[in-house]
Amino acid sequence: MPHKLNVLIVGCGNIAGGFDENRGNSYSTHPYTHAGAMTADGRFNLLACVEPDAARRKAFMEFWSVARGFDDLDAVVHSGLAFDVVSLCSPTASHYSDLQKIIALKPKIIFCEKPVTLTAQETETVVNACQQAGIRLAVNHTRAWDASLSQLKQAVDAGEWGELRSIIGTYNKGVLNNGSHLIDLLYRFVPSMHIIAVGLPVFDYTDDDPTIPALLQSDAGLSIHLVAAHAVDYAIFEVQFIFSQGVLVMEKGGFSWRQRRAVDSPVFKGYRMLDEGRFYSGGYDNAMKRAVDNIYRAITRQEDVLETGYTALKVQKFCELLKRQALCNGGVESHG
Ligand SMILES: NC(=O)c1ccc[n+]([C@@H]2O[C@H](COP(=O)([O-])OP(=O)(O)OC[C@H]3O[C@@H](n4cnc5c(N)ncnc54)[C@H](O)[C@@H]3O)[C@@H](O)[C@H]2O)c1
Repeated sequence: MPHKLNVLIVGCGNIAGGFDENRGNSYSTHPYTHAGAMTADGRFNLLACVEPDAARRKAFMEFWSVARGFDDLDAVVHSGLAFDVVSLCSPTASHYSDLQKIIALKPKIIFCEKPVTLTAQETETVVNACQQAGIRLAVNHTRAWDASLSQLKQAVDAGEWGELRSIIGTYNKGVLNNGSHLIDLLYRFVPSMHIIAVGLPVFDYTDDDPTIPALLQSDAGLSIHLVAAHAVDYAIFEVQFIFSQGVLVMEKGGFSWRQRRAVDSPVFKGYRMLDEGRFYSGGYDNAMKRAVDNIYRAITRQEDVLETGYTALKVQKFCELLKRQALCNGGVESHG
């Protein structure tokens, strides 16, 4: 039996474990949370948690069999407990101050929820502090561990779909909160990109974090369209890849995909069109499982973390550029 890694979970809400608590046993095959993925993996020991809400803390400790509970991080620092992994799942607004205390605990890896902090400047401070302390930072841009996307990247590089002509990403609920997932995904396909134009900000999340439509371009001239939906209507996170030989769409945040191939039109002689295509399951279902496996191997076998603080910082800087430009354009607010 391999040595179990000791874990501290900070913040015991939805992404810490809540999303998996009403799913019966299905979290053990497809976990969507930190506690769910680590429990399903079996090589982690949920040693302690921090949660200011006493009822929530008790429920979390009981559900996930967590040995020790604390109402704040200072108490953990004074407890003398040591951790291999700290999962940071508190609200984003408290990440910056929480991270200072977590760094003092000197875990091997911090598995930090996105965004790392509210500003790129604070994130940069944290990334540098982790580096100086010899602590690795893994950031939960979950699709970094989605095998469908890494396989697609290989297929694109091998030219299996012909030329990549354009990418269209549709999202809502904040350029930093959710747009960061999209920018992170785009960086997996284009190493660098710049802003051609931004549209009016849509205020469908917090006042500080509007959803922003934009036209981007990669250095190689690829057009990338960011389409803003409105979070009041429904949650949406979709990415359409338009190739010379067909179209692939990641739907439902990556839970499913649709592929259509270019074929000769049976009706219009000499024309090419897209076939009926097919839907298939995506790799998002397994992403959290793969994330904690990556963390385990990063600690025990020195493997690379697939989503580092540096990548997250690059993503956050781009989100801030989009926001600055959208607000400079004198965006009219479109609440509700
Ligand atoms: N990667 C993803 O796809 C994804 C999905 C959801 C949320 N998130 C991120 O996870 C974080 C938490 O989101 P959530 O939806 O789970 O929130 P939540 O409100 O469900 O849970 C947050 C919990 O933290 C507790 N808390 C508040 N202040 C705290 C502190 N200083 N220390 C410890 N606990 C504290 C709250 O009482 C609450 O129980 C946010 O940063 C969010 O952006 C990421």
